Amino acid sequence: MAGFPATSAVLFSLLLLLPSLFTLISAASSSAALLRHRPLRGGSLCEQLIIPAGYLCSEHIVQTKDGFLLAIQRVSSPSAKLGLRRGRPVLLQHGLFMAGDAWFINTKEQSLGFILADRGFDVWVGNVRGTRWSHGHISLKTRSKAFWDWSWEELALYDLAGMIEYIYQTAGSKVFIVGHSQGTIMSFTAFSQPEIVKMVEAAALLCPISYLGHVSSPFVLRMVDMYLDRMILAMGIHQLNFHSEIGVQILDSVCDGHLDCSDLLASITGGNCCLNISRIDYFLEYEPHPSSAKNLNHLFQMIRKGTFARYDYGMLKNLRLYGSFKPPAFDLSLIPESLPLWMAYGGNDELADATDFQRTLKELPCKKELLYLEKYGHVDVLLSVTAKEDVYDHMIEFLSSWGKSSSI
Ligand SMILES: *[C@@H]1O[C@H](CO)[C@@H](O)[C@H](O)[C@H]1NC(C)=O
Repeated sequence: MAGFPATSAVLFSLLLLLPSLFTLISAASSSAALLRHRPLRGGSLCEQLIIPAGYLCSEHIVQTKDGFLLAIQRVSSPSAKLGLRRGRPVLLQHGLFMAGDAWFINTKEQSLGFILADRGFDVWVGNVRGTRWSHGHISLKTRSKAFWDWSWEELALYDLAGMIEYIYQTAGSKVFIVGHSQGTIMSFTAFSQPEIVKMVEAAALLCPISYLGHVSSPFVLRMVDMYLDRMILAMGIHQLNFHSEIGVQILDSVCDGHLDCSDLLASITGGNCCLNISRIDYFLEYEPHPSSAKNLNHLFQMIRKGTFARYDYGMLKNLRLYGSFKPPAFDLSLIPESLPLWMAYGGNDELADATDFQRTLKELPCKKELLYLEKYGHVDVLLSVTAKEDVYDHMIEFLSSWGKSSSI
């Protein structure tokens, strides 16, 4: 960060929080003010980012079992126009406070979504409930408390499951999954369910998380200790939207006088080596996307307790809902041995911590290929200017080695 003007540094820090787990903790007043006045891109993701780049893009609506209407985009390279057969389907699943645009906001040559399409994959772009690209709910109003009553558990078991099933049916073959950060905990959770994992060919996970007990980011830990997640819920805030007045005020109040918000990047995500500072303004036209306060609360519960478990409602409600005082744990050993997994993790990542990751690895019964990126922080895997060479080429080699013969 050294050498960048203070405002850029703060904005940059703010942006970098977005894909990370615990974004809330971010940003000085000045960056919050910038967010407040930032116009957001309207229209659809296809119209905004993908068709203008010269790619084919169509939007599909997936209705989840609990009634949410998700938009997913199907992207292919212009050469598909020439009648080439579609390649294997791959679903890109974004992280917390992000949406499908995350895979397309670097340059055409550097963004994974475009790269996969160029390599002939049938690219599907996931967007979870609550993001600006999704289309609400069949009956709940987006402003209602009930609309935001979910965490990553529902994102895994309803949203990811629903998207995988839709693609499996539509493309007529098993699906590759690529996930980042929250997209990986959703993947692990979904893969432990036999009826979901049977539709998955293989998965490539970036900054994988399941256990969170060793998150080392000082700013995140401070927010966890402050019980900021519970404070927000107690204030009656259910939607976390950093483009809203309330969201900006939360950011302001967190930073106001209590935290040194001038160098948040390294203290939250761990240092990111290779991001393109001059694209920050552009990134902020798309990010951040809303998520639920309950989701943040669930993640903070896991940091406090070191568990990979369902949402903790407190003893009595747990007993009523789960039949036990404690929320049941998710079991990584239920992921089938036959599922090929490729995982990339960064040496400077203070959210997907090495100790937690080692535990995840130990409990995963399946074949694993690992890529260790010493200089990478939590968001380099998505936005580094050298991610293609450092990460994506290896990932594509892995994906290409699987699933040549599994049409349904
Ligand atoms: C960084 O972003 C700018 C602005 O979009 C772009 O012109 C430039 O090519 C990018 N630099 C690298 C190294 O990708």
